[in-house]
Amino acid sequence: MSLKKRIEVVRTEFRAAIESFPDEPKLIEALRVKFLGRNGQVAQLFERMSQASKSERPVYGKLLNELKNELSTSFQKKIDTLKYATATKSKPNIDYSLPGVAYKIGSKHPIELVTDELKDIFKSVGFSIAYGPEIDDDYHNFSALNFPKHHPARDMQDTFFVDPDTVLRTHTSNVQIHLMENQDPPLRYIVPGRVYRNESISYKSYCLFHQIEGLYVDKHVTFSEMKSILHYFVRQIFGKDIKIRFRPSYFPFTEPSAEVDIWDSDRGQWLEILGCGMVDPNVFKNVGYDPEIWQGYAFGLGIERIAMLKYKINDIRILYQNDIRFLGQF
Ligand code: PHE
Repeated sequence: MSLKKRIEVVRTEFRAAIESFPDEPKLIEALRVKFLGRNGQVAQLFERMSQASKSERPVYGKLLNELKNELSTSFQKKIDTLKYATATKSKPNIDYSLPGVAYKIGSKHPIELVTDELKDIFKSVGFSIAYGPEIDDDYHNFSALNFPKHHPARDMQDTFFVDPDTVLRTHTSNVQIHLMENQDPPLRYIVPGRVYRNESISYKSYCLFHQIEGLYVDKHVTFSEMKSILHYFVRQIFGKDIKIRFRPSYFPFTEPSAEVDIWDSDRGQWLEILGCGMVDPNVFKNVGYDPEIWQGYAFGLGIERIAMLKYKINDIRILYQNDIRFLGQF
């Protein structure tokens, strides 16, 4: 084979090798040695130049030099791109000093925050969580809770009627009845939920709001135990220096009954946050519990009122306007 042909063979071989370039350092070095090493293909071709005639030598010399240059440049080029690739791989081309993209994430509604907090507090002292229907019959919302038909006590809570026997529940106390109908005592539950009242809307009342009902039934349940539990949760929420008072009150389904007020230092007035009392024996009779054996206390607290005091919200209606400037603060 003529030297000229050999040169072309080596060139073609090298081009193929560089095409499928290995990415292992050992193999790369072997490739370099094979073509460009001291005894490599190119060096061997240079040696064979001595066999060429005097007149051919300059021509072959030029061709060989061209081959050598091509091989070493493209070899070096390949090495360089490889180095660049590994360098950029381990060090991505990112400017860490640029400000990031801030994603807008939602926040929990203050009602939900207070509900979560209350659930945790009551869970920690042995209450389980239950839920009940928002649309209920007159029996569960009123009659079973010892509200006689046509009794003026029903007017305490202005009711939205779906039909003459079906109401949007005016309180979560309906779930007291459902719970006791469905299981035997003892029981200890809190029931968070939405309630509805056809009241005139003002800074402190809205047509729907949220309550947490509490119900504890066992053989020895006392009013003073209820007082201490309620005092405990108020201090957990508002801190130990909070001023509260128990005020005698009336509910058809508890006897005796009380309401709890919290001192609203911003307005300089008491704000009612819950009603409570010992479960009336008539309620036990309605659900088939023997009032000679079982005692209980119940309470119903207003979540909005607590949220308003806690977060210093001065108008209950803000909680229902879905204003992102307000909600985003929580
Ligand atoms: N259901 C009463 C209300 O909504 C509160 C309450 C619950 C009172 C349980 C006593 C016992 O006003």
